[in-house]
Amino acid sequence: MLQIFRGVFARSVGPARQNLALPAANKAFSAASAAICWPPVPAVKLTEQQAKSRAHFPNLIVVESAANPDTMATATAPALNKRIGFLGSGQMAEALARGLMKRGLVSGEHIACNDPNPARTNLFKSFGATPYESNADVARNADVIFVAVKPQHVAQVLSEVRPVLTEGHTVVSIAAGITIDKLVEAAGPDAHVVRVMPNTPCLVGETAAAMCLGGKANADDETLVRTIFEAVGKIYTVDEKLLAAVTGLSGSGPAYVFLMIEALADGGVRAGLPRDIAQALAAQTVLGSAKMVMETGTHPGALKDMVTSPAGTTIAGVHELERAGIRAAFMNAVVAATDRANQLSKM
Ligand SMILES: NC(=O)c1ccc[n+]([C@@H]2O[C@H](COP(=O)([O-])OP(=O)(O)OC[C@H]3O[C@@H](n4cnc5c(N)ncnc54)[C@H](OP(=O)(O)O)[C@@H]3O)[C@@H](O)[C@H]2O)c1
Repeated sequence: MLQIFRGVFARSVGPARQNLALPAANKAFSAASAAICWPPVPAVKLTEQQAKSRAHFPNLIVVESAANPDTMATATAPALNKRIGFLGSGQMAEALARGLMKRGLVSGEHIACNDPNPARTNLFKSFGATPYESNADVARNADVIFVAVKPQHVAQVLSEVRPVLTEGHTVVSIAAGITIDKLVEAAGPDAHVVRVMPNTPCLVGETAAAMCLGGKANADDETLVRTIFEAVGKIYTVDEKLLAAVTGLSGSGPAYVFLMIEALADGGVRAGLPRDIAQALAAQTVLGSAKMVMETGTHPGALKDMVTSPAGTTIAGVHELERAGIRAAFMNAVVAATDRANQLSKM
């Protein structure tokens, strides 16, 4: 099958595109995996019906794996057996709490929270969480403590919980730009600190996150945080110096994609589609295209080449995007957001 894929891949994308294959994908090749995929996972034979449904892309080998968003969307994760605390019950805390409950990792009764805004505590109460009067009380009633306040409030809330932190606590900060050094300084040298940069699609079980460890955090803390975030998406461990780039790409990325969906829908409306249908088609197109990248592990450029026939409609659209500098615009957006994240972490 590998040979077949290589042959078809070569025919459909040509030598130039083959050279663009990522080193990681080559590793999958050398590991004798039956499809291009990283991390390498064993390929599963398609059923006849699945094969038929992919008939428009006979060149693609689809890898069914635990990373398959289809599987994720319906999977219920085993219960975590840990109490979760939120210092701050804003948008991200809500997205995480709802995501974890939706996946069955925790139930509302295992969630403790604190927030000065009664509307937010009432909202958390409505799904069974227990609001506490102070951040210290949240820490006393939780094993995993999410620091989910705005960056400027992080030092304050950590100073409040520091006296009650024990060996058994894992402190997970999702605050943009607050470094491990600052977290450890505020929480104390013995704190098990993990810095995570998630994004809001954790609400629908599809976050893209990265983490790094600090203080006394160890492999158990890493496993625990990985388990939590894998229930609501994907998480990668990176060097802290790369977290600004993660912020610029996936932390801020949903806004870029929302803007893209809105613009695509506007284009559809301009071309005569009703607004609701245009928006649904635009969103589904982004979802389906992302799934193709994830499930096949194929280079997105190769997937683009497969749908652009000579003198066809798609290449006409692609030409306009290239004329407008779309690639540079996306790259510049990520770099600008990364620079801003670096600036913020120095303030
Ligand atoms: N939103 C994103 O897409 C995203 C993505 C990645 C990371 N993050 C990070 O996630 C963190 C939270 O962001 P967010 O968007 O969820 O902000 P948010 O909606 O403003 O939530 C923060 C909450 O913390 C409350 N708060 C303020 N001081 C507090 C205190 N001393 N103790 C307890 N709670 C307190 C705030 O209440 P008041 O409003 O009354 O002040 C607010 O309800 C930020 O550090 C951000 O950098 C966000």
